[in-house]
Amino acid sequence: MTWLVTGGAGYIGSHVTRALVDAGIGAVVIDDLSTGREQFVPDGVPLVRSSILDGGVVSDTIDRHGVTGVIHVAGYKYAGVSVSRPLHTYEQNVTAMAVLLAAMSDRGVDRMVFSSSAAVYGTPDTDLVTEDTPKNPQSPYGESKLIGEWLLRDMEVAGGLRHTSLRYFNVVGSGTPDVYDVSPHNLFPLVFEALLDGKVPRINGGDYATPDGTNVRDYIHVADLALSHVAAARRLDAGEPVERAYNLGSGEGVSVGEIMTAIADATGIPFTPEIGPRRPGDPARIVAGGALATRDLDWRMRHSLRDMVQSAWDARRGPSA
Ligand SMILES: NC(=O)c1ccc[n+]([C@@H]2O[C@H](COP(=O)([O-])OP(=O)(O)OC[C@H]3O[C@@H](n4cnc5c(N)ncnc54)[C@H](O)[C@@H]3O)[C@@H](O)[C@H]2O)c1
Repeated sequence: MTWLVTGGAGYIGSHVTRALVDAGIGAVVIDDLSTGREQFVPDGVPLVRSSILDGGVVSDTIDRHGVTGVIHVAGYKYAGVSVSRPLHTYEQNVTAMAVLLAAMSDRGVDRMVFSSSAAVYGTPDTDLVTEDTPKNPQSPYGESKLIGEWLLRDMEVAGGLRHTSLRYFNVVGSGTPDVYDVSPHNLFPLVFEALLDGKVPRINGGDYATPDGTNVRDYIHVADLALSHVAAARRLDAGEPVERAYNLGSGEGVSVGEIMTAIADATGIPFTPEIGPRRPGDPARIVAGGALATRDLDWRMRHSLRDMVQSAWDARRGPSA
């Protein structure tokens, strides 16, 4: 059994690839290195440098490596930017998914685990998001992830595809000392880059109806997330039933203010963040449970908030720090 990891040179994909290797499952990566880094791909795992928009390369990779399933992690993840780049977002997240599914169908590969997102829910008015909470994406990014889920459902009906979509909440931390989130838009990298430049980090909005006025989010550790991909792949390989979608959330809300305190502790750099204006469309609170994933995908929080912050900071600074 060999699983193809699209986007395996990225932050999450490289953790997923490592988890597959650690579990003794063969892996091959396709990545165009648009945001990923070659050195994030674990040693010994073949890297095919290409966009998945090139169906010929996808088919060739399936043939050459005897691929039996796909963990589709590649994608354009910048929700805020997607508002001004909808066509790019749809090309990367919807057209690319269609090309990938066509190549899989052509080659008889019938298993997929898909990186979906909390963004499919938009700004839900509920304390705890479940898989049944109405989907109301508020950006081209969220829409593209929901369409991805629909494509999978449709290919199940049309051709017997076996699949599941994992809706990640806020993925942070590092499970390996040299891989970190390079995004210029996510909270942890933004704060780390500001601190490394000697600047005061800025957060968006301090007047929400939350205990400390800052947004409450659901932070999960990337290494825990990676293990659930392996569990999903195993279930699909074993022919065991899976849900069409699982929330990967902690059930616990943590405020951005609390994250700032944890970052000051982990870095040893005392700071008081600047409070900027709210970002349009940012909900006060979004927190999910993970009961279904706990039942089926060995999902649990193996790491504390402190582990998440410390491991992310250590990986960002690198081994020489
Ligand atoms: N980071 C989060 O908190 C989060 C939350 C929810 C969902 N997700 C989803 O998880 C996935 C991975 O996110 P990440 O944080 O690792 O981002 P990332 O940018 O680090 O990883 C994406 C990887 O995909 C590659 N890629 C992009 N388009 C490609 C294409 N057309 N062909 C081949 N490779 C391509 C990039 O080079 C990169 O290596 C994305 O689909 C994202 O939407 C992430």
